[in-house]
Amino acid sequence: MKIVTQARQRVTQPELPVASPLDRRRGRSALSPKRPSEDRAGLADVFPYYAGFAYDWARALLGSLDISDEAVVLDPWNGSGTTTLAAQHEGFRAVGIDRNPVANIVARLRVDAHQADPAPLAATSVPMGREVAPDDPLCAWFTPASVGRIREWAEHLSRMPSSQSGLPYVALFRTIRSLTSSFEGSNPTWVKRAKSSDDLVTVSAAEFDARLMEQQEFIASRIIASNEVPSSPVQIATALSSALPVPNGSVDVVLTSPPYLTRIDYAVAYTRELAVLGHDIAKDRTLRAALMGTTLIRSDADSSLRIGETASTLIKDVTSHSSKASSGYYRKQVLQYLRDLTAGLDEVTRVTKDGALFHLVVQDSYYKDIPVKLADICAEECVLRGWSLVDRDPYVVKRTLTSVNTAARNYKKSDVSETVISLRRG
Ligand SMILES: C[S@@+](CC[C@H](N)C(=O)[O-])C[C@H]1O[C@@H](n2cnc3c(N)ncnc32)[C@H](O)[C@@H]1O
Repeated sequence: MKIVTQARQRVTQPELPVASPLDRRRGRSALSPKRPSEDRAGLADVFPYYAGFAYDWARALLGSLDISDEAVVLDPWNGSGTTTLAAQHEGFRAVGIDRNPVANIVARLRVDAHQADPAPLAATSVPMGREVAPDDPLCAWFTPASVGRIREWAEHLSRMPSSQSGLPYVALFRTIRSLTSSFEGSNPTWVKRAKSSDDLVTVSAAEFDARLMEQQEFIASRIIASNEVPSSPVQIATALSSALPVPNGSVDVVLTSPPYLTRIDYAVAYTRELAVLGHDIAKDRTLRAALMGTTLIRSDADSSLRIGETASTLIKDVTSHSSKASSGYYRKQVLQYLRDLTAGLDEVTRVTKDGALFHLVVQDSYYKDIPVKLADICAEECVLRGWSLVDRDPYVVKRTLTSVNTAARNYKKSDVSETVISLRRG
Protein backbone atom coordinates (compact mmCIF):
# COMPACT_ATOMS: atom_id res chain seq x y z
CA MET A 1 0.00 0.00 0.00
CA LYS A 2 1.42 3.37 -0.99
CA ILE A 3 0.78 6.15 1.49
CA VAL A 4 1.68 9.69 0.49
CA THR A 5 3.51 11.59 3.21
CA GLN A 6 2.57 15.19 3.79
CA ALA A 7 2.23 17.65 6.66
CA ARG A 8 -0.93 17.53 8.74
CA GLN A 9 -3.42 20.20 7.81
CA ARG A 10 -6.55 20.48 9.92
CA VAL A 11 -9.65 21.51 8.00
CA THR A 12 -12.78 23.23 9.24
CA GLN A 13 -15.89 23.22 7.09
CA PRO A 14 -19.11 24.96 8.05
CA GLU A 15 -21.02 21.78 7.23
CA LEU A 16 -18.67 19.53 9.18
CA PRO A 17 -18.52 21.15 12.62
CA VAL A 18 -15.64 20.60 15.00
CA ALA A 19 -16.80 19.27 18.34
CA SER A 20 -15.60 20.44 21.70
CA PRO A 21 -12.36 18.74 22.72
CA LEU A 22 -12.21 15.80 25.07
CA ASP A 23 -12.56 16.65 28.69
CA ARG A 24 -9.20 15.31 29.75
CA ARG A 25 -9.80 15.94 33.45
CA ARG A 26 -12.72 13.53 33.46
CA GLY A 27 -10.85 11.37 31.00
CA ARG A 28 -13.81 11.11 28.63
CA SER A 29 -15.44 13.01 25.85
CA ALA A 30 -18.03 15.61 26.80
CA LEU A 31 -19.88 14.17 23.79
CA SER A 32 -21.45 10.73 23.68
CA PRO A 33 -20.26 8.39 20.94
CA LYS A 34 -23.92 7.57 20.28
CA ARG A 35 -25.27 9.17 17.14
CA PRO A 36 -28.18 11.53 17.72
CA SER A 37 -31.41 10.38 16.02
CA GLU A 38 -31.03 13.23 13.51
CA ASP A 39 -27.34 13.48 12.77
CA ARG A 40 -26.31 15.82 9.95
CA ALA A 41 -22.69 16.32 10.98
CA GLY A 42 -20.21 14.87 8.51
CA LEU A 43 -22.98 14.20 5.93
CA ALA A 44 -24.22 11.37 8.15
CA ASP A 45 -27.77 11.97 6.92
CA VAL A 46 -27.11 11.40 3.23
CA PHE A 47 -27.44 7.66 3.68
CA PRO A 48 -28.75 5.68 6.68
CA TYR A 49 -26.06 3.38 8.06
CA TYR A 50 -25.57 1.61 11.39
CA ALA A 51 -22.67 3.83 12.26
CA GLY A 52 -21.67 2.83 15.77
CA PHE A 53 -20.58 6.34 16.73
CA ALA A 54 -21.10 10.00 15.89
CA TYR A 55 -18.88 12.05 13.58
CA ASP A 56 -18.49 14.91 16.09
CA TRP A 57 -17.37 12.46 18.74
CA ALA A 58 -14.87 10.73 16.41
CA ARG A 59 -13.42 14.06 15.37
CA ALA A 60 -13.09 15.32 18.95
CA LEU A 61 -11.37 12.09 19.92
CA LEU A 62 -8.87 12.12 17.04
CA GLY A 63 -8.24 15.84 17.51
CA SER A 64 -7.37 15.32 21.18
CA LEU A 65 -4.71 12.64 20.58
CA ASP A 66 -1.08 13.50 21.04
CA ILE A 67 0.14 11.87 17.82
CA SER A 68 2.40 12.83 14.93
CA ASP A 69 1.11 14.76 11.92
CA GLU A 70 2.21 11.79 9.85
CA ALA A 71 0.00 9.36 11.79
CA VAL A 72 -2.06 6.74 9.95
CA VAL A 73 -5.58 6.12 11.28
CA LEU A 74 -7.27 2.81 10.45
CA ASP A 75 -10.85 1.57 10.71
CA PRO A 76 -11.06 -2.16 9.87
CA TRP A 77 -14.93 -2.04 10.09
CA ASN A 78 -15.26 1.37 8.43
CA GLY A 79 -18.93 1.20 7.35
CA SER A 80 -20.11 4.56 6.01
CA GLY A 81 -16.72 6.04 6.88
CA THR A 82 -17.15 8.14 10.00
CA THR A 83 -13.55 7.39 11.02
CA THR A 84 -12.01 8.03 7.60
CA LEU A 85 -13.85 11.36 7.27
CA ALA A 86 -12.95 12.49 10.80
CA ALA A 87 -9.28 11.49 10.29
CA GLN A 88 -9.14 13.27 6.91
CA HIS A 89 -10.52 16.49 8.40
CA GLU A 90 -8.11 16.28 11.34
CA GLY A 91 -5.28 16.09 8.81
CA PHE A 92 -4.28 12.45 9.32
CA ARG A 93 -3.78 9.82 6.68
CA ALA A 94 -6.69 7.37 6.80
CA VAL A 95 -7.37 3.79 5.78
CA GLY A 96 -10.90 2.37 5.87
CA ILE A 97 -11.71 -1.28 5.22
CA ASP A 98 -15.16 -2.84 4.92
CA ARG A 99 -16.38 -6.00 3.23
CA ASN A 100 -19.69 -4.36 2.24
CA PRO A 101 -19.15 -2.51 -1.07
CA VAL A 102 -22.27 -0.39 -0.41
CA ALA A 103 -20.67 1.03 2.74
CA ASN A 104 -17.51 1.84 0.81
CA ILE A 105 -19.40 3.88 -1.81
CA VAL A 106 -20.92 5.99 0.99
CA ALA A 107 -17.56 6.34 2.75
CA ARG A 108 -15.91 7.40 -0.53
CA LEU A 109 -18.61 10.02 -1.19
CA ARG A 110 -18.09 11.51 2.27
CA VAL A 111 -14.31 11.92 1.86
CA ASP A 112 -14.57 13.08 -1.75
CA ALA A 113 -17.51 15.45 -1.13
CA HIS A 114 -15.33 18.53 -1.61
CA GLN A 115 -14.47 17.44 -5.17
CA ALA A 116 -17.88 16.04 -6.20
CA ASP A 117 -19.58 17.68 -9.16
CA PRO A 118 -22.68 19.27 -7.63
CA ALA A 119 -24.46 19.44 -11.00
CA PRO A 120 -26.79 16.42 -11.28
CA LEU A 121 -25.77 13.79 -13.79
CA ALA A 122 -28.31 14.34 -16.58
CA ALA A 123 -30.64 11.53 -17.56
CA THR A 124 -29.75 12.20 -21.20
CA SER A 125 -26.18 11.01 -20.55
CA VAL A 126 -27.52 7.55 -19.66
CA PRO A 127 -28.76 5.83 -22.83
CA MET A 128 -32.02 3.87 -22.81
CA GLY A 129 -33.09 0.66 -24.49
CA ARG A 130 -31.27 -1.98 -22.49
CA GLU A 131 -32.71 -5.51 -22.25
CA VAL A 132 -33.27 -6.79 -18.74
CA ALA A 133 -31.86 -10.14 -17.70
CA PRO A 134 -34.75 -12.20 -16.23
CA ASP A 135 -32.61 -13.01 -13.20
CA ASP A 136 -31.60 -9.40 -12.46
CA PRO A 137 -31.46 -9.13 -8.63
CA LEU A 138 -33.60 -5.95 -8.75
CA CYS A 139 -36.51 -8.12 -10.01
CA ALA A 140 -37.05 -9.03 -6.32
CA TRP A 141 -38.80 -5.62 -5.89
CA PHE A 142 -39.43 -4.12 -9.34
CA THR A 143 -41.30 -5.20 -12.47
CA PRO A 144 -38.91 -6.18 -15.30
CA ALA A 145 -40.00 -3.08 -17.25
CA SER A 146 -38.93 -0.86 -14.32
CA VAL A 147 -35.63 -2.64 -13.75
CA GLY A 148 -34.34 -1.68 -17.22
CA ARG A 149 -33.89 2.01 -16.41
CA ILE A 150 -32.37 1.34 -12.98
CA ARG A 151 -29.87 -1.08 -14.49
CA GLU A 152 -28.91 1.47 -17.18
CA TRP A 153 -28.05 3.98 -14.45
CA ALA A 154 -26.18 1.39 -12.39
CA GLU A 155 -24.08 0.30 -15.38
CA HIS A 156 -23.31 3.87 -16.35
CA LEU A 157 -22.12 4.68 -12.80
CA SER A 158 -20.00 1.52 -12.61
CA ARG A 159 -17.92 2.90 -15.51
CA MET A 160 -17.31 6.30 -13.87
CA PRO A 161 -14.26 7.09 -11.69
CA SER A 162 -15.09 6.35 -8.03
CA SER A 163 -14.23 9.94 -7.02
CA GLN A 164 -17.15 11.13 -9.23
CA SER A 165 -19.67 8.28 -9.04
CA GLY A 166 -20.30 8.53 -5.26
CA LEU A 167 -22.93 11.28 -5.41
CA PRO A 168 -25.10 9.74 -8.17
CA TYR A 169 -24.64 6.22 -6.67
CA VAL A 170 -25.89 7.33 -3.26
CA ALA A 171 -28.75 9.20 -4.99
CA LEU A 172 -29.57 5.94 -6.79
CA PHE A 173 -29.57 4.06 -3.44
CA ARG A 174 -31.85 6.70 -1.91
CA THR A 175 -34.25 6.53 -4.89
CA ILE A 176 -34.47 2.72 -4.70
CA ARG A 177 -35.07 2.92 -0.92
CA SER A 178 -37.88 5.45 -1.28
CA LEU A 179 -39.59 3.37 -3.99
CA THR A 180 -39.35 0.13 -1.99
CA SER A 181 -40.02 1.37 1.55
CA SER A 182 -43.05 -0.98 1.77
CA PHE A 183 -40.59 -3.90 1.93
CA GLU A 184 -39.13 -2.64 5.23
CA GLY A 185 -40.78 -4.25 8.26
CA SER A 186 -40.73 -3.39 11.96
CA ASN A 187 -37.15 -4.67 12.03
CA PRO A 188 -35.42 -2.15 9.72
CA THR A 189 -32.48 -4.48 9.19
CA TRP A 190 -34.60 -7.23 7.61
CA VAL A 191 -35.70 -6.20 4.11
CA LYS A 192 -38.41 -8.36 2.54
CA ARG A 193 -38.75 -9.35 -1.12
CA ALA A 194 -41.91 -9.40 -3.24
CA LYS A 195 -43.92 -12.56 -2.57
CA SER A 196 -45.81 -12.36 -5.88
CA SER A 197 -45.74 -10.26 -9.03
CA ASP A 198 -48.62 -8.19 -7.57
CA ASP A 199 -46.23 -6.82 -4.94
CA LEU A 200 -43.65 -5.61 -7.49
CA VAL A 201 -43.10 -1.85 -7.84
CA THR A 202 -43.71 -0.25 -11.23
CA VAL A 203 -41.99 3.01 -12.11
CA SER A 204 -41.67 4.56 -15.55
CA ALA A 205 -38.24 5.62 -16.85
CA ALA A 206 -39.31 9.28 -16.82
CA GLU A 207 -40.54 9.12 -13.23
CA PHE A 208 -37.44 7.25 -12.11
CA ASP A 209 -35.17 9.83 -13.75
CA ALA A 210 -37.08 12.68 -12.09
CA ARG A 211 -36.83 11.07 -8.63
CA LEU A 212 -33.13 10.42 -9.12
CA MET A 213 -32.55 14.06 -10.09
CA GLU A 214 -34.28 15.16 -6.86
CA GLN A 215 -32.05 12.88 -4.80
CA GLN A 216 -28.91 14.13 -6.56
CA GLU A 217 -29.98 17.70 -5.84
CA PHE A 218 -30.63 16.87 -2.18
CA ILE A 219 -27.14 15.40 -1.72
CA ALA A 220 -25.52 18.26 -3.62
CA SER A 221 -27.34 20.73 -1.36
CA ARG A 222 -25.79 19.00 1.64
CA ILE A 223 -22.28 19.34 0.24
CA ILE A 224 -21.50 22.96 0.86
CA ALA A 225 -18.44 24.26 -0.93
CA SER A 226 -15.58 25.29 1.32
CA ASN A 227 -12.37 27.23 0.52
CA GLU A 228 -10.49 24.80 2.72
CA VAL A 229 -10.09 21.43 1.09
CA PRO A 230 -8.85 18.39 3.04
CA SER A 231 -5.65 17.15 1.46
CA SER A 232 -4.84 14.10 3.57
CA PRO A 233 -4.95 10.92 1.52
CA VAL A 234 -7.71 8.41 2.31
CA GLN A 235 -7.70 4.80 1.16
CA ILE A 236 -10.95 2.87 1.20
CA ALA A 237 -10.93 -0.81 0.29
CA THR A 238 -13.39 -3.67 0.09
CA ALA A 239 -11.75 -6.43 2.13
CA LEU A 240 -12.19 -8.65 5.17
CA SER A 241 -11.19 -7.51 8.64
CA SER A 242 -9.59 -10.94 9.00
CA ALA A 243 -7.25 -10.24 6.03
CA LEU A 244 -6.50 -6.52 6.05
CA PRO A 245 -4.65 -5.27 2.93
CA VAL A 246 -2.37 -3.20 5.19
CA PRO A 247 1.37 -3.76 5.85
CA ASN A 248 2.67 -4.97 9.23
CA GLY A 249 3.39 -2.29 11.84
CA SER A 250 2.19 0.65 9.72
CA VAL A 251 -0.76 2.07 11.70
CA ASP A 252 -0.66 4.56 14.61
CA VAL A 253 -4.33 4.74 15.64
CA VAL A 254 -7.29 2.41 15.22
CA LEU A 255 -10.76 3.84 15.75
CA THR A 256 -13.58 1.44 15.04
CA SER A 257 -16.89 -0.15 15.92
CA PRO A 258 -17.26 -3.77 14.86
CA PRO A 259 -20.66 -5.40 14.25
CA TYR A 260 -22.22 -6.33 17.62
CA LEU A 261 -23.63 -9.70 18.61
CA THR A 262 -27.18 -8.48 17.91
CA ARG A 263 -28.00 -10.50 14.78
CA ILE A 264 -27.83 -7.61 12.33
CA ASP A 265 -27.26 -9.19 8.97
CA TYR A 266 -25.56 -6.35 7.11
CA ALA A 267 -26.02 -7.98 3.69
CA VAL A 268 -29.79 -8.33 4.26
CA ALA A 269 -30.04 -4.78 5.63
CA TYR A 270 -28.42 -3.45 2.41
CA THR A 271 -29.81 -6.10 0.05
CA ARG A 272 -31.43 -3.54 -2.32
CA GLU A 273 -28.24 -1.48 -2.66
CA LEU A 274 -26.24 -4.67 -3.19
CA ALA A 275 -28.72 -5.60 -5.94
CA VAL A 276 -27.98 -2.24 -7.63
CA LEU A 277 -24.30 -3.28 -7.60
CA GLY A 278 -25.28 -6.62 -9.19
CA HIS A 279 -25.07 -8.83 -6.08
CA ASP A 280 -27.93 -11.24 -5.52
CA ILE A 281 -27.50 -12.32 -1.91
CA ALA A 282 -30.35 -14.83 -2.27
CA LYS A 283 -28.42 -16.74 -4.96
CA ASP A 284 -24.82 -16.15 -3.94
CA ARG A 285 -24.37 -16.37 -0.21
CA THR A 286 -20.62 -15.63 -0.17
CA LEU A 287 -20.90 -11.99 0.81
CA ARG A 288 -23.62 -12.56 3.39
CA ALA A 289 -21.65 -15.40 4.99
CA ALA A 290 -18.50 -13.24 5.13
CA LEU A 291 -20.08 -10.41 7.12
CA MET A 292 -19.71 -10.59 10.90
CA GLY A 293 -22.91 -11.13 12.82
CA THR A 294 -24.60 -12.86 9.87
CA THR A 295 -27.39 -15.29 10.71
CA LEU A 296 -25.95 -17.76 8.15
CA ILE A 297 -23.72 -20.41 9.65
CA ARG A 298 -20.50 -21.24 7.77
CA SER A 299 -19.02 -24.72 7.75
CA ASP A 300 -16.04 -23.62 9.90
CA ALA A 301 -18.32 -22.24 12.66
CA ASP A 302 -17.88 -25.18 14.99
CA SER A 303 -14.11 -25.74 14.80
CA SER A 304 -12.01 -25.04 17.89
CA LEU A 305 -11.29 -21.46 18.91
CA ARG A 306 -8.70 -19.92 21.27
CA ILE A 307 -10.49 -17.32 23.36
CA GLY A 308 -10.39 -15.85 26.87
CA GLU A 309 -12.55 -16.63 29.89
CA THR A 310 -15.41 -14.16 29.31
CA ALA A 311 -15.96 -15.33 25.72
CA SER A 312 -15.74 -19.01 26.82
CA THR A 313 -18.32 -18.38 29.57
CA LEU A 314 -20.70 -16.83 27.03
CA ILE A 315 -20.44 -19.92 24.81
CA LYS A 316 -21.07 -22.21 27.81
CA ASP A 317 -24.08 -20.14 28.96
CA VAL A 318 -25.65 -20.06 25.50
CA THR A 319 -25.03 -23.80 24.97
CA SER A 320 -26.70 -24.73 28.28
CA HIS A 321 -29.69 -22.38 27.85
CA SER A 322 -32.98 -24.29 27.95
CA SER A 323 -34.54 -22.54 24.93
CA LYS A 324 -34.85 -24.20 21.51
CA ALA A 325 -31.71 -24.35 19.33
CA SER A 326 -29.46 -22.79 21.98
CA SER A 327 -27.11 -25.77 22.02
CA GLY A 328 -27.25 -26.07 18.22
CA TYR A 329 -27.76 -23.11 15.89
CA TYR A 330 -27.23 -20.26 18.42
CA ARG A 331 -24.10 -21.81 19.91
CA LYS A 332 -22.62 -21.99 16.39
CA GLN A 333 -23.62 -18.41 15.66
CA VAL A 334 -21.86 -17.13 18.77
CA LEU A 335 -18.77 -19.23 17.98
CA GLN A 336 -18.68 -17.91 14.42
CA TYR A 337 -19.04 -14.31 15.62
CA LEU A 338 -16.22 -14.72 18.15
CA ARG A 339 -14.03 -16.33 15.49
CA ASP A 340 -14.52 -13.33 13.17
CA LEU A 341 -14.05 -10.81 15.98
CA THR A 342 -10.81 -12.36 17.23
CA ALA A 343 -9.48 -12.76 13.66
CA GLY A 344 -10.07 -9.01 13.21
CA LEU A 345 -8.29 -8.23 16.48
CA ASP A 346 -5.35 -10.43 15.38
CA GLU A 347 -5.13 -8.37 12.19
CA VAL A 348 -5.37 -5.04 14.06
CA THR A 349 -2.48 -6.23 16.22
CA ARG A 350 -0.42 -7.23 13.17
CA VAL A 351 -0.81 -3.93 11.32
CA THR A 352 -0.27 -1.55 14.26
CA LYS A 353 2.99 -0.05 15.50
CA ASP A 354 4.30 -0.70 18.98
CA GLY A 355 2.70 1.99 21.19
CA ALA A 356 -0.29 2.41 18.82
CA LEU A 357 -3.66 3.54 20.22
CA PHE A 358 -6.83 1.50 19.78
CA HIS A 359 -10.31 2.95 20.42
CA LEU A 360 -13.10 0.46 20.15
CA VAL A 361 -16.82 1.28 20.50
CA VAL A 362 -18.95 -1.76 21.35
CA GLN A 363 -22.41 -2.40 22.66
CA ASP A 364 -23.42 -5.08 25.13
CA SER A 365 -26.62 -6.99 24.40
CA TYR A 366 -28.57 -10.04 25.52
CA TYR A 367 -29.04 -13.55 24.23
CA LYS A 368 -32.49 -14.36 25.72
CA ASP A 369 -31.80 -13.50 29.41
CA ILE A 370 -28.01 -14.02 29.16
CA PRO A 371 -26.01 -10.77 29.11
CA VAL A 372 -23.57 -10.58 26.21
CA LYS A 373 -20.72 -8.59 27.74
CA LEU A 374 -19.09 -7.59 24.50
CA ALA A 375 -17.03 -4.80 26.10
CA ASP A 376 -15.54 -7.25 28.60
CA ILE A 377 -14.90 -9.77 25.83
CA CYS A 378 -13.16 -7.21 23.58
CA ALA A 379 -11.04 -5.79 26.40
CA GLU A 380 -9.96 -9.28 27.46
CA GLU A 381 -9.21 -10.47 23.92
CA CYS A 382 -7.13 -7.33 23.26
CA VAL A 383 -5.14 -7.77 26.47
CA LEU A 384 -4.47 -11.40 25.44
CA ARG A 385 -3.01 -9.99 22.20
CA GLY A 386 -0.56 -7.67 23.96
CA TRP A 387 -2.67 -4.49 24.37
CA SER A 388 -2.87 -2.60 27.70
CA LEU A 389 -6.18 -1.18 28.83
CA VAL A 390 -5.96 2.62 29.19
CA ASP A 391 -9.62 3.51 29.81
CA ARG A 392 -13.20 2.24 29.64
CA ASP A 393 -16.14 4.64 29.30
CA PRO A 394 -19.65 3.18 29.46
CA TYR A 395 -22.64 5.11 28.10
CA VAL A 396 -26.12 3.78 28.83
CA VAL A 397 -28.18 2.98 25.75
CA LYS A 398 -31.94 2.83 26.16
CA ARG A 399 -33.03 1.65 22.75
CA THR A 400 -30.90 -1.19 21.53
CA LEU A 401 -30.90 -2.92 18.19
CA THR A 402 -31.88 -6.12 20.05
CA SER A 403 -35.10 -4.42 21.10
CA VAL A 404 -36.28 -4.24 17.48
CA ASN A 405 -36.46 -8.05 17.58
CA THR A 406 -39.92 -8.77 19.08
CA ALA A 407 -39.05 -12.34 20.14
CA ALA A 408 -36.09 -11.01 22.13
CA ARG A 409 -38.39 -8.70 24.09
CA ASN A 410 -39.95 -11.70 25.89
CA TYR A 411 -36.97 -11.78 28.24
CA LYS A 412 -36.65 -9.05 30.86
CA LYS A 413 -33.45 -7.04 30.54
CA SER A 414 -31.98 -3.92 31.97
CA ASP A 415 -30.51 -1.14 29.80
CA VAL A 416 -27.29 -2.09 28.10
CA SER A 417 -24.23 0.05 27.74
CA GLU A 418 -22.19 1.16 24.81
CA THR A 419 -18.56 1.31 25.86
CA VAL A 420 -15.55 3.08 24.49
CA ILE A 421 -12.50 0.92 25.20
CA SER A 422 -9.13 2.64 24.88
CA LEU A 423 -5.96 0.56 24.65
CA ARG A 424 -2.30 1.04 23.93
CA ARG A 425 -0.13 -1.57 22.20
CA GLY A 426 2.65 -2.93 24.35
C1 LIG B 1 -21.02 -1.00 13.19
S1 LIG B 1 -20.64 -0.97 11.48
C2 LIG B 1 -19.39 0.28 11.43
C3 LIG B 1 -20.00 1.60 11.16
C4 LIG B 1 -19.02 2.74 10.97
N1 LIG B 1 -18.42 3.18 12.21
C5 LIG B 1 -19.69 3.92 10.24
O1 LIG B 1 -19.27 5.06 10.41
O2 LIG B 1 -20.63 3.72 9.47
C6 LIG B 1 -19.73 -2.43 11.21
C7 LIG B 1 -19.25 -2.64 9.79
O3 LIG B 1 -18.51 -3.85 9.73
C8 LIG B 1 -18.63 -4.36 8.41
N2 LIG B 1 -18.21 -5.77 8.41
C9 LIG B 1 -18.91 -6.83 8.85
N3 LIG B 1 -18.18 -7.95 8.71
C10 LIG B 1 -17.00 -7.58 8.16
C11 LIG B 1 -15.83 -8.30 7.80
N4 LIG B 1 -15.75 -9.61 7.97
N5 LIG B 1 -14.80 -7.61 7.29
C12 LIG B 1 -14.87 -6.25 7.11
N6 LIG B 1 -15.98 -5.54 7.43
C13 LIG B 1 -17.02 -6.18 7.96
C14 LIG B 1 -20.10 -4.15 8.08
O4 LIG B 1 -20.29 -4.15 6.67
C15 LIG B 1 -20.34 -2.79 8.74
O5 LIG B 1 -20.22 -1.77 7.78
